[in-house]
Amino acid sequence: VEEEIRNLEQGFREELGSISTLEALGVLRIKYLGRKGKIAEYFQKLALVEPGQRPGMGKLLNILKETVASHLAEKEKNLSLTKAVSGTEAPDVSLPGISYAVGGKHILTQVIDEIAAIFYHLGFISADGPEVETEYYNFTALNIPAEHPAHDTFNTFYLDFRNKDRYLLRSQTSTVQIRVMEKYKPPLRIISPGKVYRPDATDAAHSFMFHQVEGFAVDEGVRFSDLKGTLFAFAQKFFGQDIKMRFRPHYFPFTEPSVEVDISCIICANRKPTTANRECSVCHGKGWLEILGAGMIHPNVLRTVGYDTRRYTGFAFGMGVERMAMLKYGIDDIRLFFENDLRFLNQF
Ligand code: PHE
Repeated sequence: VEEEIRNLEQGFREELGSISTLEALGVLRIKYLGRKGKIAEYFQKLALVEPGQRPGMGKLLNILKETVASHLAEKEKNLSLTKAVSGTEAPDVSLPGISYAVGGKHILTQVIDEIAAIFYHLGFISADGPEVETEYYNFTALNIPAEHPAHDTFNTFYLDFRNKDRYLLRSQTSTVQIRVMEKYKPPLRIISPGKVYRPDATDAAHSFMFHQVEGFAVDEGVRFSDLKGTLFAFAQKFFGQDIKMRFRPHYFPFTEPSVEVDISCIICANRKPTTANRECSVCHGKGWLEILGAGMIHPNVLRTVGYDTRRYTGFAFGMGVERMAMLKYGIDDIRLFFENDLRFLNQF
């Protein structure tokens, strides 16, 4: 019988070890300590044992009863604690882990990186310039005199009216042309991505802040055909090999001649403008999409930075990054770029 009691204890320990809920623990308690439980069963058997052995056996059973009770209490304490801490009774190691959202590059950063990479392969390196500028860099040095109506086409946020050379938020990245040329001599092949600001009412096509990529090259013998070749190579890489490109005469104070550059509609024109679709939501049947402004750098601009205009010529261009992204990915509202809605951002 002594042997049986030891086996009983062994069995209890094994069962206890496999228990992970308070409910199961309750069942185990009844199985061993209940009125009809295993230990009670043995106390009844005492009556059948030889009287001389009863006290010893009784003692063994009492010790077992105490041991079982204290183990049950201990286990109950542990299970309640786990439940309080984790909300569940015991960790389920088979559950999938918690995965944390990993950040990614904003679509505009991706597009800027892509544009910069294409121009890098064409020999252009990246330069930076301040967003808070003076009238000199935003206008005067770019051949836009203070009273000139061209001022109005680059509507501007002014920051400080008291200062003689007024501070403003740059309305174009062409400012970086001046800053780079002031500092370095030709040959130069530079692109400069960055934010620009214009006090436009916000709608699907306008934002008071957007991004441009400026580009320019200055060297001996730089010609308009270099501008055409550079921009065409870029557009083919960015939009696809089969696009067509056209140059329309335009006016910018800091370039002469100046052009606006279009590519064949990448949605409807099957990249050939002759097949343009009137219903097309991107080009509205025109078959062409304007992608940037460009031209040969005006001699006045080169003179302003002290370059010898008999020796050096250059071209410059400026494109809107949001516009490039909208055309390439079929995005129809510029506000989507700045709302930080993950349902939009996660698509890229
Ligand atoms: N700065 C012009 C704009 O913001 C773009 C441009 C840049 C045009 C360089 C010609 C040359 O509209």
